[in-house]
Amino acid sequence: MKFCLRWYDRLPSTNTFLKELLEVDSQLPSGTVVATREQTHGRGRRGRSWLASANENLTFSFLLLGSCEPQKLPAAAMAAAVAVAELLTQEGISADLKWPNDVLVNGRKICGILSEGVPGGIIVGIGLNVNMQNAGHIDQPATSMLIESGSRHSLDELLEKLLPILSGRLDEWAQGGFSRVRKKWEAHVPNIGKMISVRDGDAFREGLLAGFGENGELLLQDQSGTVSPVWAGDVSS
Ligand code: BTN
Repeated sequence: MKFCLRWYDRLPSTNTFLKELLEVDSQLPSGTVVATREQTHGRGRRGRSWLASANENLTFSFLLLGSCEPQKLPAAAMAAAVAVAELLTQEGISADLKWPNDVLVNGRKICGILSEGVPGGIIVGIGLNVNMQNAGHIDQPATSMLIESGSRHSLDELLEKLLPILSGRLDEWAQGGFSRVRKKWEAHVPNIGKMISVRDGDAFREGLLAGFGENGELLLQDQSGTVSPVWAGDVSS
């Protein structure tokens, strides 16, 4: 995957901005990356907002176009989460993945990912807490690279390091879907084989986390041993 990176000083939301760029230029190439040093109206999953102060949060989005089956698309964000976990490991911070695509450190959220469909593909937006001294609470307790490692990081340098890793994971995903990144994903999931609960709106299910299916769906095993797929929801232990 070849990326074409555009940095901005301030944007409301990199996901929204990239969507607008695509609306005015239908030839915008797959791999276009929009990053901003300050994001004023960041959006999270399930209509939540994503707060980020200037130079404290690596906020960027990339465009992924291509003729692949729609059921394969959600796993692109999971491949991106694997890349972030690998970057953190490289920086000396051990990271876990929480389905569908949160990155946690010591049980606290350090990165959130929002993927949204556009004609012919998806936009994947990544928010990584980098230099926040107090990360507070996102949709759950949060942390930052500064809190975990004691070091500040340059957003530009981090993105330069992340893009090649991301490119590798997305190439694997493009070749073989989630199956190609499953091992790397599962290597960062600590609660396989443990009891979890999944809430999707008013629906609430409990069971054993049996693993992940070929499109990245979560596999939940109930008391009778029946394994069923879960395609959306918020997981807690
Ligand atoms: C979540 O955990 O709810 C997902 C958060 C995603 C935030 C990122 S920051 C860059 C991109 N632009 C946005 O408006 N949102 C995503």
